[in-house]
This record gives sequence, structure tokens and C-alpha cells, in this order.
Amino acid sequence: MKIALGSDHAGYPLKEEIKKYLDLKDIPFTDFGTFKIDSSDYPEFAYKVGNAIAAEECDCGILICGTGIGMSITANKIKGIRAAVANTEEGAKLSRLHNDANILCLGSRVVEPEQALKILDVWINTSFEGGRHQKRTNLITQLTGL
Ligand code: RB5
Repeated sequence: MKIALGSDHAGYPLKEEIKKYLDLKDIPFTDFGTFKIDSSDYPEFAYKVGNAIAAEECDCGILICGTGIGMSITANKIKGIRAAVANTEEGAKLSRLHNDANILCLGSRVVEPEQALKILDVWINTSFEGGRHQKRTNLITQLTGL
């Protein structure tokens, strides 16, 4: 599993924490920026991460901004992307089980770093349930073309 990582300035410190965590767990990742704390625009990083997954260069992604919302709005406009804002462990789990989310969006202004790592752990270790949920994710593609 290779993870595409991205954040804006608001998510930058949490992204750096997540990198340490992924290193510790031996999970490979590519960091698509931002690489500094200066003000930046979240769509740029959501677009890069989303496209890396759409192009199958990475298997899934983590995007962090202040709320996770701007990242998810942007990433979900890319074909094949199912980006979920999950600021609770339950939301993270269900976004994998039911929605086959391929990007986890976190809000650094909403969750503490320790909680974010717990959310990430659940998200990484939960698989899609398929079955009736597969029919529904297929329907997303059929209805929207995305
Ligand atoms: C940046 O101030 C903030 O708007 C951004 O990080 C994000 O929360 C947008 O959804």
C-alpha cells in the first residue's frame, strides 16, 4: 500500500506528524506538499493527491487542511476519487466499510494530533465490505460519471 499525502499550511504540522507515524509503521508514502508553513491553497494539493491515485501511482491518500472540507470538495471532483472527511474513528471506519473511501481528509483545526493518528490507524486497517455497498459505489460512478 502506497499513500499519497498532502496538506495546506493549516494541515502542514499534522502532515509532518503523520509522516513520522507512517515511517514508524513502515508504510510507504509520497508527500505532495505543502513543504512549508507559509500560506498556501488547498486545491493544489488535493488535485495532486487525487490525480496520483487516479493514475494508480498511489493506492490511497491522506489530505489535511483546517477542516478537511476544502480538500474533500476538491478531490471528489476527480474521477475515481471517494474522499471522506472523517474526524472521528467511527466515521473513518464507516468511510472504508461502506464507502470504500480512497482518501481520508482530516481537519487539523478540528482534531488533536493524537486523535488524528487513531483515526488514521482505523482508516488504514479497515477494508471495504463490498456487497450492497459495492452496488452503491458503482451507482455513484454511473450517475455522476466520476
Ligand atoms: C485555510 O485557512 C483553511 O480555509 C483551509 O485549511 C481549509 O480549512 C479549507 O477547507
